[in-house]
Amino acid sequence: MDVSEPVAARNPPDPAPLAVDDHGAVVHTPVMRERITALLGPALQTPGAIHVDVTLGMAGHASAILADCPNARLIGIDQDADALAIAERTLHRFAGRFELVQARFDELADVLDDLGIAEINSLLADLGLSSLQIDQRDRGFAYAADAPLDMRMDARNPRTAAQVLNTSSQAELVRILRRYGEEPHAERIARAIVTERAREPFSRSARLVDVISAALPAAVRHGGGHPAKRTFQALRIEVNGELDALAGLLPDALGRLAVGGRIAVLAYHSLEDRLVKQTFAAAISDAAPPRLPVVPEPLLARFEPLTRGAEKPTADEIASNPRAASARLRVVKRIRPGHVPILKEAR
Ligand SMILES: C[S@@+](CC[C@H](N)C(=O)[O-])C[C@H]1O[C@@H](n2cnc3c(N)ncnc32)[C@H](O)[C@@H]1O
Repeated sequence: MDVSEPVAARNPPDPAPLAVDDHGAVVHTPVMRERITALLGPALQTPGAIHVDVTLGMAGHASAILADCPNARLIGIDQDADALAIAERTLHRFAGRFELVQARFDELADVLDDLGIAEINSLLADLGLSSLQIDQRDRGFAYAADAPLDMRMDARNPRTAAQVLNTSSQAELVRILRRYGEEPHAERIARAIVTERAREPFSRSARLVDVISAALPAAVRHGGGHPAKRTFQALRIEVNGELDALAGLLPDALGRLAVGGRIAVLAYHSLEDRLVKQTFAAAISDAAPPRLPVVPEPLLARFEPLTRGAEKPTADEIASNPRAASARLRVVKRIRPGHVPILKEAR
């Protein structure tokens, strides 16, 4: 195999440093901030109302919500200890109104039980990676810079991207690339990975980018987006169990919302957005068989939509923050108490 034609930029310029204020708080504008605070805010007006941000990151959304809703309390969850440390500084002006917990978001039920919280009033999931994670080169998320193949959002997770590449069978690699990267050339890439790792196990991203590039037909290699984009997305989703975590989060999040409570999810790729769309579609639908003249109360929908389909950021927002371009926002509101029986099927 010819891997002599490297496509990875080995030493791209350092990303611009994050802006911080006098308290070390990161100053950044989160995706669709105004729209999200406008949609969640009405559920957070009563004293002690609880907002849960399950992807706290640098606390951009969480700060906006605490500022806009002075009666609200925040439970902030992130699996990344670095993110939580920054969020704590970012939230300094709201001292006494928040608690932060390091956890995966599919552990939501345990986190709330431990805090003695039965019901919540709003929840936000802003999925995927933060700018901080993408820009920290040594974490290996970016294909444009040579770095160790790590890709773990939670450093406690024992399995890195290098381990996935070096230990998965060829059939498993094909499945990962197809399912999580929607990679049409999964077979070719998986075969090349297995051949190359027999020579030497993978440890750094630049070599992986070269192997992927050499495995692809020339027309694909030189046309369209970066040849490694889909493989990197697939590895990241596999390493962090992203879709399983989302499938675990959604039913518990919907189940914990009080009547009037709202959940917002920002997804950045079609796999995540599909899962959110299906789960919300089930939540806003009656569970009665078709043509039943009157729907019995237990089968009535427990939720109603607050967005029509998925909302996108405005062209202005995308122009000032290109990373927002793929964002899709879906929001639903609880309108009836009670169990949401069909949600588990949506998983
Ligand atoms: C897009 S960033 C969120 C940015 C945040 N909304 C803000 O305004 O700064 C996503 C964050 O979610 C975290 N995250 C992703 N998947 C997670 C999961 N399954 N459990 C907990 N945290 C997760 C990541 O570590 C990252 O910090």
